[in-house]
Amino acid sequence: MEKKAAVEMNAKTWSGRFNEPVTQLVQRYTASINFDKRLAEYDIQGSLAHAQMLSSVGIINSIDLVAIEQGLSQILEEIRNNRFEWQIELEDVHLNIEKRLTALIGDAGKRLHTARSRNDQVATDIRLYLRASIDEITQLIQSLQRALLDLAEQHIETVMPGFTHLQVAQPVSFGHHLMAYYEMLGRDIARLLDCRKRVNKLPLGAAALAGTSYPIDREMVAQLLGFEGICLNSLDAVSDRDFAIEFCACAALLMTHLSRFSEELIIWMSPAFNFIQLADRFCTGSSIMPQKKNPDVPELVRGKTGRINGHLVALLTLMKSQPLAYNKDNQEDKEPLFDTVDTLVATLRIYTDMLSGITINQDVMRQAAMRGYATATDLADYLVKKGLPFRDAHEIVAQAVRFAENKSCDLSELSLSELKQFSSIIEQDIFSFLTLEGSMNSRNHPGGTAPAQVRAAIVQARKELSNH
Ligand code: ARG
Repeated sequence: MEKKAAVEMNAKTWSGRFNEPVTQLVQRYTASINFDKRLAEYDIQGSLAHAQMLSSVGIINSIDLVAIEQGLSQILEEIRNNRFEWQIELEDVHLNIEKRLTALIGDAGKRLHTARSRNDQVATDIRLYLRASIDEITQLIQSLQRALLDLAEQHIETVMPGFTHLQVAQPVSFGHHLMAYYEMLGRDIARLLDCRKRVNKLPLGAAALAGTSYPIDREMVAQLLGFEGICLNSLDAVSDRDFAIEFCACAALLMTHLSRFSEELIIWMSPAFNFIQLADRFCTGSSIMPQKKNPDVPELVRGKTGRINGHLVALLTLMKSQPLAYNKDNQEDKEPLFDTVDTLVATLRIYTDMLSGITINQDVMRQAAMRGYATATDLADYLVKKGLPFRDAHEIVAQAVRFAENKSCDLSELSLSELKQFSSIIEQDIFSFLTLEGSMNSRNHPGGTAPAQVRAAIVQARKELSNH
């Protein structure tokens, strides 16, 4: 085994100047094949474009190009059918594929790496991978937005207590509350699309760090791979990972939004609140307490936000103080990035499904709004509209709330004469303001919680989503 590894080592692309092979330990430590093999399809895409360009400018001939194309397409088949034999002795995805290509087609395979380095190759692969991932993730966010719109639409008129400090504040439409998350997700998409512009630049051609002496056509490669342009400085091209950091920052914010939503679902589902029920398929029981139904999925989303934030910090730290240009440190960019993508994809899928199986306990929500004096501000506003300064009105209402609290009833349940004890300017018309609906309907401007506004916001959102 040792011997075979040594022979393999000697076949390494860079082994000519070495007197001894690396130890097994070093081999395992430095190899990235166990995780970067998932870049294989992008590596092949990049190689195909590179080969086409090499042939078009006359660096390789068309016979070699055809051989390379056939060889790479066979390798792609092998990988897709799980028949490709990945070898740790060959370090990474790039060398594994190149070695196999050479085994299949001979010298033409060895010519593929002309005017290229693994440094610009890997940077290209990651950008292709990330571009595809961003496209998938934005689609998934949109599906989640659709699920939110569907739920919000059913609950435009459903009253819930809006909170500040987790204390009942003012009545809001549950649909309005859900639409707040629609907005957050919209910003997440906008951020990802902006990040995509910087992902979508071609590093290939930078070679190891300084460019190459061959008459390459970088614009052609960029076009073939669907990049919007080329990286303009070769040193920057091979060493830049800003785009990955930006992506992780977008991911961290997205997960932060979902963690907030999850926290609310968890609170709403606790028996003390009992605002909602999640479908059983998103919950588990306790092995000791038979009464429990635990909101595992939202709890895990909340928890996984930690690892996504961690990946962002990992990449920032990876790049901090790195001298130009490529350093092996950069090999460490992949696992955090892959895990970020995997976590986002799984989380978004599960969230969309979870929202379609949610039950809303409208009566309980309503009772909670009643119990919390959610319309106290409306009483104050009523007094202000009748001429009292706001601060005085505030004080009067505080007294009225205390009175109602002692009677264990809502403000709207006090009689007119009881209310008049606090201010004689209160008249019969107050009751239309003190109802939950009256309060919601009065906040009737763009961005407000009046059901008419929520309905308009949903219509607008549907229009935006169908334009994407
Ligand atoms: N596996 C390496 C990485 O992920 C590929 C580039 C290696 N380049 C080098 N000069 N060793 O970054």
